[in-house]
Amino acid sequence: MEVQPPPSLAAVSIPTEARFAAHHRSFLERFGSGGSPPRLFFAPGRINLMGAHLDYNGGPVMPMAIDRGTFLALRPRTDGLLVLASSREAEGHELHLSELGEASSSGRWWDYPVGVAKALADAGAELGTSGGFDLYFGGDLPVGAGLSSSASITLVTALALDAGLDLQLDVEAAIVAALWAEREYVGVHCGIMDPYAVGFARPGRVLLLDCSDSSWQHLPLDGKRYSVGIVDTGVRRELARGEFNLRVAQCAQAFEALGPAAPGATCLAEVPLEVLEGARLEPVVARRARHVIEETARTFAASAALQRGDVGGFAGEMFAAHHSLRDLFEVSIPELDTIVEVAEAHSGVLGARLTGAGFGGCVAAILEAGSEDDFAEQVRALHVQRHVREPQVAFYQGSPGLGEVGL
Ligand code: GLA
Repeated sequence: MEVQPPPSLAAVSIPTEARFAAHHRSFLERFGSGGSPPRLFFAPGRINLMGAHLDYNGGPVMPMAIDRGTFLALRPRTDGLLVLASSREAEGHELHLSELGEASSSGRWWDYPVGVAKALADAGAELGTSGGFDLYFGGDLPVGAGLSSSASITLVTALALDAGLDLQLDVEAAIVAALWAEREYVGVHCGIMDPYAVGFARPGRVLLLDCSDSSWQHLPLDGKRYSVGIVDTGVRRELARGEFNLRVAQCAQAFEALGPAAPGATCLAEVPLEVLEGARLEPVVARRARHVIEETARTFAASAALQRGDVGGFAGEMFAAHHSLRDLFEVSIPELDTIVEVAEAHSGVLGARLTGAGFGGCVAAILEAGSEDDFAEQVRALHVQRHVREPQVAFYQGSPGLGEVGL
């Protein structure tokens, strides 16, 4: 069985149905066509348009799902094994479900689905006594590109096991399992944004999620007048996980220092700017706190603009967000800055910023429809000139959202 190369973000023209059908065929090649036909599930990836690094600080975030994501084919077994394979990785894994309780993380891709299975078992799902499953992962979401491949894989696993075991979970319960897997099993101290973005994705809608109380609503973004672009630098940094956890710790340190002077504030996002300005913090911690407090205000302003249909006002905040991520939160890299620089100079681009945790990955941009080709050309030209590598440019086409796919 040949491992497929990482998907190209720019390969936007393949219709979703054809991609699902190819995964289905690939499952049959890998696992054989005997037995019941596999069921197929999809979870999208996401970009975050506003509210960078606010989720674990209790602030508002504005993610949107994209039409790339994770595909998962599931077929029940009778021997109690959970067999995990992927069209994108040479190595897979299997374990007996009665031994799930003793499973420990390995640093490999299957930690995500195994973590979800453990979380569901801990919450009472009868996995240990089930007949087991073949789970075959694939899809067209670049991994480690800031497009939330991890929430995509955890949620699609929760959805498929829910269907396979008839657990009747709601999306919130799937999110709880996904978060446990990533935080406790894989060990990334992530916030709640990604699983909410994936779990509640709707085509053409931005999710406005308030991370202080998990309340959310959908806001429309007119897909005929505006286009959502993603430019992938191709840079993947191993240090991202450690740097991410360091930012989480620095923000916690800031809140510990500022909280007592901000009565009523339950998280760093709620601390007034004057409190920060009157405090003496280590300079690096003060920079992180300033980003969080100012980004919170920017995101509220951006969401108010989008609610009144002012897409220019909304997207304009993205440039300021990027500057803050570059200068105060220090999670950008020169490649991302080059792309945002082209976007700022282009009359058809309303806003752009790095998306995801940073240290590599992608820029998300909002453009006037019709300016896509020119922007893509300019981005490629300057990026190649400065950084040699050609970035991949794709335009968002509307996500089918989380769900089972009928073939
Ligand atoms: C990563 C995390 C998210 C969020 C973003 C930054 O994607 O998984 O929870 O913190 O970074 O906004």
